Amino acid sequence: MLNLIILILYLQADRGVAAEKTWTVEIPESVTGLKSSCVVVPCRYDYPHQGKSISSWKGRWYLAPNDVYVYDQDSSTVDARYQTRTALVGELREKNCSLQITDIKKNDQGQYWFRIMMEGYNSYSYSEKKITISVKDEPNRPSISGVIKEVRSGEIVTVSCSASHSCPPHPPTITWSRDGRVTVQSEPLTGGQHKLTSSLSFNANALDHQQPITCSVQHHGGKKAINSVILKVTYAPVNVTISPREPSVLENGSISLSCLAEGNPEVDSYQWRNGSGPLSVQGKSLTLSSVTRRIHAITCVARNREGETASRPVRINVEYPPEISEQSFCTKGHSGTQCSCTVQSNPPSIVRWVWDHGENESPQIKNGTTAVAMALLPPNLHQAVCMASNKHGNAMKILIIKNDLLNVYVSVGAGCALILFLTVICLSRRKRCRQQQQNLERENSRKKCEKEKHVYNSQEIKGGKPCCVVDEDLYGNEAMQDADDDGEIYANNCHGCGEDDDIYANC
Ligand SMILES: *[C@@H]1O[C@H](CO)[C@@H](O)[C@H](O)[C@H]1NC(C)=O
Ligand SMILES: *[C@@H]1O[C@H](CO)[C@@H](O)[C@H](O)[C@H]1NC(C)=O
Ligand SMILES: *[C@@H]1O[C@H](CO)[C@@H](O)[C@H](O)[C@H]1NC(C)=O
Ligand SMILES: *[C@@H]1O[C@H](CO)[C@@H](O)[C@H](O)[C@H]1NC(C)=O
Ligand SMILES: *[C@@H]1O[C@H](CO)[C@@H](O)[C@H](O)[C@H]1NC(C)=O
Repeated sequence: MLNLIILILYLQADRGVAAEKTWTVEIPESVTGLKSSCVVVPCRYDYPHQGKSISSWKGRWYLAPNDVYVYDQDSSTVDARYQTRTALVGELREKNCSLQITDIKKNDQGQYWFRIMMEGYNSYSYSEKKITISVKDEPNRPSISGVIKEVRSGEIVTVSCSASHSCPPHPPTITWSRDGRVTVQSEPLTGGQHKLTSSLSFNANALDHQQPITCSVQHHGGKKAINSVILKVTYAPVNVTISPREPSVLENGSISLSCLAEGNPEVDSYQWRNGSGPLSVQGKSLTLSSVTRRIHAITCVARNREGETASRPVRINVEYPPEISEQSFCTKGHSGTQCSCTVQSNPPSIVRWVWDHGENESPQIKNGTTAVAMALLPPNLHQAVCMASNKHGNAMKILIIKNDLLNVYVSVGAGCALILFLTVICLSRRKRCRQQQQNLERENSRKKCEKEKHVYNSQEIKGGKPCCVVDEDLYGNEAMQDADDDGEIYANNCHGCGEDDDIYANC
């Protein structure tokens, strides 16, 4: 029932307004413009309808109190201060009398009013309702909203920045100090003001922590305003590194490492690992003692309540003086003595070869901490020395020169075949020796054996029975002498069935 009464009253009131339609203007009481930007004064006028046809519309704006023209269709009548700066942006036919003033100046401040001139009907000055334009020198600070006190790394953050302005044809531009997805929205406010809002969305990360997010508003005409907020982000440790970055230690020595990490909240526990698993030490630093060259790379793991992060494994550079490997050797070759020296050291060593009458530095082929130095030394050497040195010490090895393998086999083969041949001959002759006249036989044998003396000698040394022993004393002594002469030099090698060095060396 009450509703119905209200409805009836409302309808009557509405009809009453329509009937009393008269000269009215709707403008805000005041509009604030920014110096050197523009102002659009929203304006709507109305007039009593009397069914007359209007052939054209003209509008004019005045500045009180002297009522100079601020805008007129005939710009020559407009006050010089406004001549190029004003425009009627509203469609008069549609009762829109909005005025735009560009390049606002401080003394544009004042009270303005509107007059309509309709040809074929009437004219009217809405001077009883004036609008006050005020001008400010600097824009307001934009407002920022949407930031939560603290976000977790990875979460999406949306920050909004709003600026108000009075110049819709040239809205300000809003820029952000951080990358992200930006959306812009505009909405009108009262009093000729408009609100432009830019929203920035991004995934927060560790780098955003404590960083200001700044929005900069550039107004038409060049005035700028900024505002910013500080973002707080919680994150699992980042930048987990081991210091020193390139740890180096002398073998059997000790070294201390520390784990550097950043996190929010602060890192509250550390773990250390080597290739085979966690180490017992927990804490920011780790001391390793008696470090061997076989030590694994070390990793540090930093934790806080947001998570854990491992550093890259750090290799420890363990240094030691050179060691020369048993694989090193020298061989007698066709063009000289070929030598190869395998050296383990860290840092790499300088390798030199030293022989009877010479010395040189050797180029090396390196693979990690192993280097192979190869050299072609002069022929017919008995021994050569490989010397290696780095900043931690020296090593040397004497290499006895061996035959090249093919020569050895040929010599050994030939030598043994000869012995066998002579032995057979001797044995067969020996049978006859017994049957024939001993003196003659002894004489013959003696000549033959003297010729091949070295062969008999060898047999004797080998412990075989001398075959053609005619004069045991004589040949025995000779054999012993030979053995002694060479025995010293080749003491480490077996005695073969030939007499030359090649055979002794390899048999
Ligand atoms: C009047 O015209 C201005 C400029 O074209 C426009 O922005 C505004 O929305 C119009 N007002 C109305 C009430 O139509
Ligand atoms: C991680 O290290 C980089 C490069 O040194 C640095 O720019 C960054 O600020 C560090 N991160 C944090 C969260 O401190
Ligand atoms: C790795 O750490 C374990 C535990 O401390 C230790 O026993 C092992 O020797 C280490 N291995 C290497 C290669 O450093
Ligand atoms: C470290 O100790 C080991 C074992 O005692 C030894 O073989 C090695 O030569 C030492 N290294 C150094 C650089 O002294
Ligand atoms: C270097 O040495 C490693 C192992 O010690 C081996 O696997 C690799 O093949 C070597 N590289 C060369 C080029 O000899």
